[in-house]
Amino acid sequence: MILFKYFPLLSLALALPVHFDGSVESNGSTISSTSTSPAAQFTLPNDLTIGVKQVPNIYNESAIDANQAAPGYDLLNISLSDSGLSGLLKLRGEPKNIYGYDFDLLNLTVSYQSDERLNVHIEPVNMTDVFVLPDFIVTRPEVESLDLDSDLLFTYQAKQFGFSIVRKSTGESLFSTIGNPLVYENQFIQFNTSLPKNHVLSGLGESIHGSLLTPGTNRTLFAEDIGDPIDGNIYGVHPVYFDQRYGSNTTHAVWWRTSAIQEILIRNQSLTWRALSGVVDLYFFSGPTPKVAIQQYVATVGLPALQPYWSLGYHQCRWGYNSTERLQEVVQNFKDFDIPLETIWSDIDYMDSLKDFTTDPYRFPLDKFQRFLNELHNNDQHYVPIVDAAIYVPNPHNATEANYSSYVNGAKLNTFLRNPDNTTYIGAVWPGYTVFPDFFAENAQTYWTGEISKWHKDVSFDGLWMDMDEVSSFCVGSCGTGMIDKNPIAPNFAVGSPAGSYPVGFNVSNSTDYEIFSESLASVSSAAIASAEASAGTTLSSTAVATSSSTSIDAKNTLMPGKGNINYPPYAINNVQGDHDLATHAVSPNATHQNGFIEYDVHNLYGHMQTNSTYNAILDTNPGKRPFLIVRSTFPGSGKRVGHWGGDNTADFAYMYFSIPQAFAIGSFGIPFFGVDVCGFNGNTDMELCSRWMQLGSFFPFYRNHNYLGAIDQEPYVWEAVTSATKTSMAIRYLLLPYYYTLLHESHTTGLPFLRQFQWEFPEDSFYAGIDNQFFVGDSLLVTPVLEPNVSTVKGVFPGANESDVYYDFYTHEKQNFTNHKNHTLEAPLGHIPLHIRGGSILPTQEPGYTVAESRNNSFGLIVALGLDGSASGNLYLDDGESLKVSEATFVDFVAENNTLTAAPRGNYAIEQALANITILGVDSEPSTVLFGNSSAKFQYTNSTVFITGLEELTGDGAFADQFVVSW
Ligand code: GLC
Repeated sequence: MILFKYFPLLSLALALPVHFDGSVESNGSTISSTSTSPAAQFTLPNDLTIGVKQVPNIYNESAIDANQAAPGYDLLNISLSDSGLSGLLKLRGEPKNIYGYDFDLLNLTVSYQSDERLNVHIEPVNMTDVFVLPDFIVTRPEVESLDLDSDLLFTYQAKQFGFSIVRKSTGESLFSTIGNPLVYENQFIQFNTSLPKNHVLSGLGESIHGSLLTPGTNRTLFAEDIGDPIDGNIYGVHPVYFDQRYGSNTTHAVWWRTSAIQEILIRNQSLTWRALSGVVDLYFFSGPTPKVAIQQYVATVGLPALQPYWSLGYHQCRWGYNSTERLQEVVQNFKDFDIPLETIWSDIDYMDSLKDFTTDPYRFPLDKFQRFLNELHNNDQHYVPIVDAAIYVPNPHNATEANYSSYVNGAKLNTFLRNPDNTTYIGAVWPGYTVFPDFFAENAQTYWTGEISKWHKDVSFDGLWMDMDEVSSFCVGSCGTGMIDKNPIAPNFAVGSPAGSYPVGFNVSNSTDYEIFSESLASVSSAAIASAEASAGTTLSSTAVATSSSTSIDAKNTLMPGKGNINYPPYAINNVQGDHDLATHAVSPNATHQNGFIEYDVHNLYGHMQTNSTYNAILDTNPGKRPFLIVRSTFPGSGKRVGHWGGDNTADFAYMYFSIPQAFAIGSFGIPFFGVDVCGFNGNTDMELCSRWMQLGSFFPFYRNHNYLGAIDQEPYVWEAVTSATKTSMAIRYLLLPYYYTLLHESHTTGLPFLRQFQWEFPEDSFYAGIDNQFFVGDSLLVTPVLEPNVSTVKGVFPGANESDVYYDFYTHEKQNFTNHKNHTLEAPLGHIPLHIRGGSILPTQEPGYTVAESRNNSFGLIVALGLDGSASGNLYLDDGESLKVSEATFVDFVAENNTLTAAPRGNYAIEQALANITILGVDSEPSTVLFGNSSAKFQYTNSTVFITGLEELTGDGAFADQFVVSW
C-alpha cells in the first residue's frame, strides 16, 4: 500500500514547523516572512488567562437545594382572556434569596397561540433591571387565531403554584411543575417537570453527546470556545427539547425563549431547568410526530435559509494554507488527482498579522491573490475566507499600525464593547489585544457593512466563515486596558505545535506511517514541549489573579445595581473551562453594550447578532444573491441565515461518530446545513480514519475537510486509498446533487432536517430510539458508516425491513433480504460505505461533473426504487441556485405505480438538460417493452432492475419540459 502518495507535502509539515505567523522555519532560519516579526512579540501573561475558581453548583455538596428551600408562589386573581388566562403569582412567606433576590409578585400569562403552540409566560410585576429578549433578535411568537383546536391543555394548582400541560387526545401529562416550587429570583429561575417512563428526550444544545438526553445528563447552556469536549458547553445555545413518548406514540417540543445562561438536569423522572436571568417564556409544541414537532419549532424560530446550490460541492480548508502559492498548489493538486473541488477556504493565515479584513502583503500580495481568485471563479470554483469576531487594537507607538482602518472606523463610530466604567473593553485573541464589535450598537451595521464591502472589493470572496464569535477572548476581563503599547502580543499557548496524537488503531492500519511518525514525532514533540515551556516559563509560576473587573464574591448580589453579581453569580454553572469562571476564554459578563445590555444577559447572542449583521453586509456587497455563511456560535433562528460547522473536533473515530448525533441535534434546531471538520481538526488523522470520514462526510449537507495548523496534511490526495474512497463517494454525492438540493429546499420550506434519525422516521417503534451510528439522508437513503478502526464489516439495522419497507443496495441495486429489528452484518472493506435506498423512493440524479456548475449542465437521470407494494414517489426542486428571492422555480412530482412512472412538472424555471436514463429497482419480471410516452425506449434487465437509456433523444426540449409517463 502506498501511504504517502503525496509525501513531499506531508514531510514538509513534519520536518519544517510552520510558525503561527505563517513563516516556515528551515534549520533555525526563517525562509519566508510576514510583516510581523515573532521576536518582537510579547506573550499574553499567563496569569491574565486564569479566572477565579468556581465550584459548580451541581458538584457542590453543600449547595442549597432550591426545591427544598424555596417558598414557591400562590396564584391569585386568575382571569380568563380571549386566548387563555392570566393571573398574579405571590411569593409564599418570606423571601429566601437563595441564589439572588426573590421577586415578590409575578404576572402569569397563558396563551393558546395556534392549534399547535401554547405559551406560558411569567415575568416579574416590577420589570426594572429584568432582561427581556428583544423581539428583533428572535421574533416573539404571537397569538395567531382565537378560533383554535389545540391538543394542549394548561391546568394549574393555585395554592403552591404549579402547572401542567396535558395532551387532550391522550389525557397524558406532557409537562408538570406541580409538586415543586417555582423559584424566581433576579439571578436564578428554576422549575421542574416530572417525566414519565418510556420516553426519550433529545435536543438542548449545543453539545457533543449521543442523540438522546439520557437520565444523569447535566446540560450547561453558555456559548464557549472550546475544542468539543464531550458533554461540555460549546459554541451555540439552543434551549429546546423534544420529548418522544412511546406509550402514546406522540412527541412534543418545549422551547424556552431566552438568551440566559442556563443549566438543565435530566434525571430518571424529572427535568430541572435553571436560568440565571431573564423571564420565563415557554413554548409548547404539540407535534404529535417527532418530525412535526421539529417543524413546528423551526417554523416558529425561523425556517432555514436556502443555501446556494454550489455550497453542496466539496470544500477544502486547512489552517496553514499560508500563501497564494499554497492555495494554488492545493487547487491544482485536486485537479491533478481529478478530485472535485468546489471551494477553497482560507483560515487566518491570509491575514496581515492576523488582523481581520487585511491580507498579508508578502504571502498574499493583492495582485497575485486577485489573479488567483479570478482564475478560480473562471473555473466555476469558489473562495471562502475566515473572519474572526475580534478587531486588533493598533499599538499607538507603531506608526504603520495607526491606520488599521477596521479599528479606526469602529472606534469613530463607537461600535466596540465597553467596560462598566465606559472605557473600551480590550481582550485578547489571535492578533493580540483586541476589541469586540458591539452588534447592539447604533452604528454597528454601518460599521460592519463598511468593513466587509470595502474588503470585498479587494478580495472577491463567495461567502464568509465566522469564527471566535462566542465571543471568545483569551484572557479574563479587559486585560488589554493600559497594555496596548505591548501589541502585537502572542497567545500564551503554543499555537501550531505539532499535533502529537493519532487515531485509535493507527499503529495497526497505518503501520508503515506509524514507524516513520513515531521516530520523527519523538524529536518534534520534545522540541515542542521545550518551546512551550520556554514561552510559559516566566509566567507559569506566577500566582493566579483574576483581572475580571469584579473579583470579590458577593453572596448578596450587590455588585451591579439591580443585576447582582454578574461576574460570579451566586449559582455557579458548570462552565466547561477548567476554573468554571464565566470570563475565562470569553468576554467577561460585565462587558457592556451601547444600549445598556450586559454580556451576562446577552453573551449567548453574540454569534447570532454578528451573523445577522454579516448576512446583511454580504447581501449589500452582492444584492439579490443568497449570502453563504458558515458560523460557529448559533442561537434559535440562526438557521434562517447560516449554516454551521461542528467546531474543533479531534481526528479520531469517536468524533467521527459524534458528528452524526451532532447533525441530528443541529438539524432539529433549524440549521440543516451542517457538517464537521472531515478527517478531524485537532490531532493528526491517518489514512484509515480519513478514508472512512471522507466517505461519511460526503452525505452531510456541508462537506468540508479542515485541519489544525500543526497537524499533518489531510487533503484526500495525501493517501492513495483516501483518494479512491473519496472519488467513489463524491461520484455518488455529485450524482445525487438534484436530490440534495431538493432536500435543502424542503428544509427551507418545511423546517425538516436534512439528515434524519431513525426514531423520527419510525416514531412508533421504540427499538429504533437513539440509533445514531446510522442515518437517513432525507427519507430515502440509509447510510451505515464504519465508525471504528481495523474492521471490514459493519453492523446495521433496517427499520421496517420486509414488513413495511424494503431496502436496495445502492451499488448493486440488489433487493436486500433484511429483517426488521435484526442486526445485519454488512461488508465494508476500506473504501466502501454501505448505502441503501429505501424502497418507495424516487431520486432525481444528474451526471457528475468536476464542479457543481459543470454537473448542472449534464443530463438528468432517475432512480426509482419500488416499495413492497410496487409503488414509489419523489420530487425535484430546481431554480437558478443563487437568487435570494426566487422568481423562477420548477417542481417535478414523480409517482410510480402499476408499472408506470409519471413525472409531473410545474413552475417556470427552464430546465434545458435532457433526461438520459431511468433505473427502476425491484421489478420482479423482465418487461417485454418499455414505453416513454408512446415511443418505445431502449432498456436492459438484470438483477430485478430495468435500465432505461437513450432518453436524450426523447427529451431534447429539457428533461422535465413536459409531463411524461413511462410504462413497463
Ligand atoms: C478556531 C476554529 C478553527 C480555526 C482556528 C484558527 O479554533 O474553530 O476552525 O482553524 O480557530 O483560525
